[in-house]
Amino acid sequence: MLPLHESASPTQRSANALHELPPGQILRIIFDYTAKIADEQSLQRVLSLMADMGQQMILADRCAVWLIDHKHQEVYTTVAHGTEEIRIPIGSGFVGYSIQHGEPLLIEDASADYRHNANNDHKTNYLTRTVITVPFVGNDGHILGAYQAVNKQSPGHVFTQRDLEFLTLAASYAGKSLESVMLHEEIVATQKEILLTMGQIGESRSKETGNHVKRVAEYSYLLALGMGLDSEQAELLKMASPMHDIGKVAIPDSVLHKPGKLTAQEFELMKEHTVIGYRLLNKSNRRLLRHAARIAHEHHERWDGSGYPRGIQGEAIDLFARITAVADVFDALGSERVYKPAWELDRILALLQEERGRHFDPLIIDVFMQQLPALLAVREQYRDMK
Ligand SMILES: [Fe+2]
Ligand SMILES: [Fe+2]
Repeated sequence: MLPLHESASPTQRSANALHELPPGQILRIIFDYTAKIADEQSLQRVLSLMADMGQQMILADRCAVWLIDHKHQEVYTTVAHGTEEIRIPIGSGFVGYSIQHGEPLLIEDASADYRHNANNDHKTNYLTRTVITVPFVGNDGHILGAYQAVNKQSPGHVFTQRDLEFLTLAASYAGKSLESVMLHEEIVATQKEILLTMGQIGESRSKETGNHVKRVAEYSYLLALGMGLDSEQAELLKMASPMHDIGKVAIPDSVLHKPGKLTAQEFELMKEHTVIGYRLLNKSNRRLLRHAARIAHEHHERWDGSGYPRGIQGEAIDLFARITAVADVFDALGSERVYKPAWELDRILALLQEERGRHFDPLIIDVFMQQLPALLAVREQYRDMK
């Protein structure tokens, strides 16, 4: 354990006392914030609340929560008061030191300390004078990241042992919530990756690119928001829509990869991918997979009832499936396939308008036209590599 500097003079100490909150107020801050943090599901908001809590408790000018990026051997902060994301090599600076050694630091004069990373000050046009860093420890003892408080709000004052104790207290309360939210985000990210991969398997059977499912997911998301769904529903659709063609895993190559037109019998077989997808996905009790099941089942149904496999129409077709249908067709027409070149945008838009109220839900087509610039930006971002 490093010796913590406690060399402030008596006058300095009494001057500092004016810049400290009474313990009752500090406890109130801790209670208020830890209750809010415990209710939070979003990592970004947890980090932001933690930074605010630290800043208010010890009257820091800036406070940040740093996390570890093991893959790149860096520590980074996305929520720092007054700055954008900062990244530094894992062992550098005060925060890097605390994370690497699992020890808190109390620095009265940053410029006199060998661990000071002056580059960040230059980059952010800021002068670091006094610093506290406190590592966060997860349930099994490994280090998740660190708190860093920089400069007392009143220039000329330094952090004290008492500030360090309070920030340590805050770190130990909030650290548990931080870990569970990080875990939750990890699970959601893993889920998304699996779904996308499954979708890509379905599409790769029909020789489509991996980016096709990504684009369909993003288009669906934008269209859902445009249709007035809330962001949670839109996010759900974004995760479920890439699996619309998963049933193609069971369609024989001779049909899937046939360059020419399908015979009536082959087309009947091809249609089966909707029902096969539905059966694959509908076994699950998970909300997400049940949505995916309906999308797989109904993404070839048409608004006027002329689609397949059941020929249902209008709002009897699942909204998620209706949205996915527009996204899927838009993307398929704009992409090159073995049997056709990519269509020009004008031609695609004309077709969508023509099919408004026939193939497609008229309202979704209206939303599509309103959202066109954003949709085209997605198309550009996930363009297929030739
Ligand atoms: Fe399909
Ligand atoms: Fe597709």
